[in-house]
Amino acid sequence: MPNEIKNFLNYPKAPFKLEVSDKTIDKKVHLVSFTEKPISKKKSDEPLLPDFPYFKADLGETVEGPEVWHIGLGSLTEVDFDQIGSMFLRVATRLTTKFKKIQIAIPSKLEQACGIDALTNLLITGLGVACYPVDLLKNDSAASKKILQNVILKVPKQSLTKYRKYGKKYLEISKHINGMRQVQALPGNYLDAIAMEKRTRQIAKDYNLTLKVFKQPELKKMGAGGILAVNQGSTREPRMLILEYKPEKMTRNTKTLALVGKGVTFDTGGISLKPSAEMHDMKYDMSGSAAVVHAVAAIAEQKLAVHVVGAVGMVENMPGGNAFKPGDVYTSLKGKTIEVQNTDAEGRLVLGDVLHYTETKYKPDLMINLATLTGAILVALGPYYAGLFTPGDQPREIIEKAAENSLEPVWSMPMSKRFKEMLKSNIADYNNIGGRLGGSCTAAAFLSIFVDKPESWAHLDIAGVGFIKKSFNVYPSVASGYGIRLLTEVAQSLT
Ligand code: BES
Ligand code: ZN
Ligand code: ZN
Repeated sequence: MPNEIKNFLNYPKAPFKLEVSDKTIDKKVHLVSFTEKPISKKKSDEPLLPDFPYFKADLGETVEGPEVWHIGLGSLTEVDFDQIGSMFLRVATRLTTKFKKIQIAIPSKLEQACGIDALTNLLITGLGVACYPVDLLKNDSAASKKILQNVILKVPKQSLTKYRKYGKKYLEISKHINGMRQVQALPGNYLDAIAMEKRTRQIAKDYNLTLKVFKQPELKKMGAGGILAVNQGSTREPRMLILEYKPEKMTRNTKTLALVGKGVTFDTGGISLKPSAEMHDMKYDMSGSAAVVHAVAAIAEQKLAVHVVGAVGMVENMPGGNAFKPGDVYTSLKGKTIEVQNTDAEGRLVLGDVLHYTETKYKPDLMINLATLTGAILVALGPYYAGLFTPGDQPREIIEKAAENSLEPVWSMPMSKRFKEMLKSNIADYNNIGGRLGGSCTAAAFLSIFVDKPESWAHLDIAGVGFIKKSFNVYPSVASGYGIRLLTEVAQSLT
């Protein structure tokens, strides 16, 4: 067995060492130079390289010379973060296996166009993510070929402090993005509820956090009917995990942020079985839970002055002799009776219990759940936005602002009692599905049933952005690591 497989749950290390400097370029270290100025335009000039007599410096145009890599920036009149992000990711992916040490010269034009925060975010996240290909189960893994160790950012003297601050922040965050991507990419036979408990334990130990673990007997005792119903067909055990970070100084004014994640380690659909063509992708149905526990780690590493509770429900949705069936009625932790007309609408049953437990136990100022909840959000928003559902103005403002600052896209979707009315059941309090239309909206309405203070709660449907077929911005395919930057920013905004 290759070492990587043996260590499939080792927490990723910091992707590289970062130094920020305003000193002149060190001739001995490989240089990456971004420029909007064409080089060697006239035939009579010294050519850049024999096969590159002209370098127009179009955006993303690259000349990989032996001492210097020139990367074009185009005219920079219109700044497109997707283009800049994907350019960084592409260049970074090539750099990580070629050089141990690089220096990157940041031109002030790029700094002015993007702003230091966004520029550092895209550059360091792109580099960090490129350093960690999530192919640990390959005998010949690309991860083992990474040699990049040191990155030196050459920046203008007057911006040194800002680059240092944001450089450190995004370097730390990228480690946790990689942690999330790692567990996302692991298949259902590696990453089950117990493996997730192990990962969460590791985070708790590394950052001195408290972890509460609810196993099957405790879940039964407390009456977590949703979690138990979904996991009933599986031979694996379920878990509810609560990871808690308390800042050094907890005062009366310290805000409590609750993050809740859907952790279906594999979603077959259950008895309402999914078609087989893309079923393997349902190993990513735990992306919400992965975002939550790794965001708590990122927030704890940054020692933000906010109390954070990360709560995840870990189950496997399987068909089988003991599985829950269409038409079954179960009683949720909150006491509501639910008719399960479709066993594939399982995430909402799990989340209902975890949301109720978290809200009543911790009384958070703000509670956000993340879930790969509906295929319908992919139809609505494609792979590019998380659907943001909240009946409250405050959560919407906080999350939209954090999305803007972190460059993690969200799109606001409607919440209305019209959708709740679609969830009527003849024999129970609610049905778990609301018909064909407005699928993401009825799913959000279903979650709201379990929340007592919906005005301080928001639901992010990440079925589109959580895992993506095609890379965009600094998101690599397939495991995207979506949410870590966003949630860290939300936490920061509550300090
Ligand atoms: N995990 C799926 C949602 C999903 C689909 C995520 C595609 C990512 C990509 C969820 O559990 C599910 O199956 N939802 C159903 C709900 C339906 C039965 C009301 C869906 O979206 O089809
Ligand atoms: Zn499902
Ligand atoms: Zn699911």
